[in-house]
Parts: sequence; C-alpha cells; structure tokens
Amino acid sequence: AYTMYPAYRKKNDKVNSFAERMQGCFQFSMNGKAPAADSEVLNALTAYAYWLSTGAPVGQALPGRGFDEPMPPKGGYDIARGAKVYTAQCAICHGAKGEGKKVGATQVFPPLWGKDSYNWGAGMHRINTAAGFIQHNMPLGKGETLSDQEAWDVAAFVNSHERPQDPRLLNHDIEATRKKFHEGDGVNLYGVVVDGVLLGQGVQ
Ligand code: HEC
Repeated sequence: AYTMYPAYRKKNDKVNSFAERMQGCFQFSMNGKAPAADSEVLNALTAYAYWLSTGAPVGQALPGRGFDEPMPPKGGYDIARGAKVYTAQCAICHGAKGEGKKVGATQVFPPLWGKDSYNWGAGMHRINTAAGFIQHNMPLGKGETLSDQEAWDVAAFVNSHERPQDPRLLNHDIEATRKKFHEGDGVNLYGVVVDGVLLGQGVQ
C-alpha cells in the first residue's frame, strides 16, 4: 500500500498521508485511539512499509492488494442461513458468541462482534467487504472454499450483531449518523432494524 499514498479517501473526504491512513486502522478496525501521525509507533510502521515496498512501482496497485468481492447473491442474503455456516465453520475459533479466543492475556483469534470487536465505522462492517475478506481468507487455512452465497450469508450474520459505536457518531443520533456515513457505503446494517432491534446502538 505504501506507494499508493498520499491518496484521497472518501471516508474522511481528504487526501490522506500513509500515516493518516494507518490512524484510521487504529480508530476503526482496532476500535482504539490512534497514535499521533509523528509518533514513534506510526513512524516505525511507516518506515517498515517503506522498506517492504523497496523497488515497487509508485502509484500502481500491486497484485495481492485488497481482494475482490463476490457479487451479491440473486435472492439476497439470509442471516439465519449465515448463522448455520457460522456454527459449522467459524465458531470453533471465533467463539459461539463472536468473542474470539484468548490464551492467557493474548488474543489468538479475533472477536467478530461485541465490545472487543471492530467498530461500526470499520470497513469490515460492510457486508460486501466482509463477504470478500471471508471468502478469500476464512475459515483460516481454507480460503476460497465458501460459495458466494455462503460468504454473503455468514458476513451478514456476523454484521447483524452489536459492536462498538462508530466514533464518528453525530450528536448521539444514530439516524443522522446512518444518513451521513452509512447510506450508500456498500451494504450495511448500521441504523437498520433487524428482528425488531435497532442496530448501531453500540456496546462498550
Ligand atoms: C482456524 C481458526 C479460524 C477459523 C475456523 C475461522 N477464522 Fe476467521 N480469523 C482467524 C484468525 C487467526 C484471524 C486473524 C487473521 C489475521 O489477522 O490475518 C481471523 C480473522 C477474521 C476476520 C477479520 C476480523 C477483523 O477484526 O478484521 C473475520 C471477519 C473472520 N475471521 C471471519 C471468519 C468467518 C466468517 C469464519 C467462518 C467461515 C472464520 N473466520 C473462520 C481464525 C479463524
């Protein structure tokens, strides 16, 4: 990714430096607080990425960057069917309640929902994005084995659970936040009522 930056990003509607892009990973995907752009941590990560990109052409996406997303299934996705895929193929590592797995204090398998998961502002909260990631990479070591339908169903199941609030929340107003940041941002369930429950309330 290093040679693709600085680049415009729709998410914050400005040109982002590589350090700013990584700050987004801390804030959304890790649901944490981003170190300053000139901090030792971000300088070290930037230096490492710079070294990894040695000899790479500037401004050209290289093979292996990102992943394609499977087409949305014709009949749509089905959360209940996704629950079955999850129980059969994912729960062994990610936990029956999406809590992941710890060995001692070390998180060995990441939580997929709940208070320790990626938040409602992370790219992974989009069902289309999660379907692509899951189809190529999951179950761990058995990527490319789920059908498009299974990938969409299980992604929808995962993303129909509560997770930490979108840090961009406007005035404690889920509907306003949905309109500004989630409408038109792929397929997602933020601010949507599922089985009588409003999603996007956030958990701490
Ligand atoms: C053998 C254990 C294992 C199984 C089974 C497994 N995963 Fe994973 N999963 C992992 C590990 C480890 C990671 C972290 C990978 C990494 O950081 O590169 C991960 C990462 C993920 C992520 C990204 C989480 C994040 O915070 O970005 C998602 C989403 C995910 N898995 C979904 C699934 C789904 C859906 C299934 C079932 C179809 C599944 N996984 C099966 C071990 C597993």
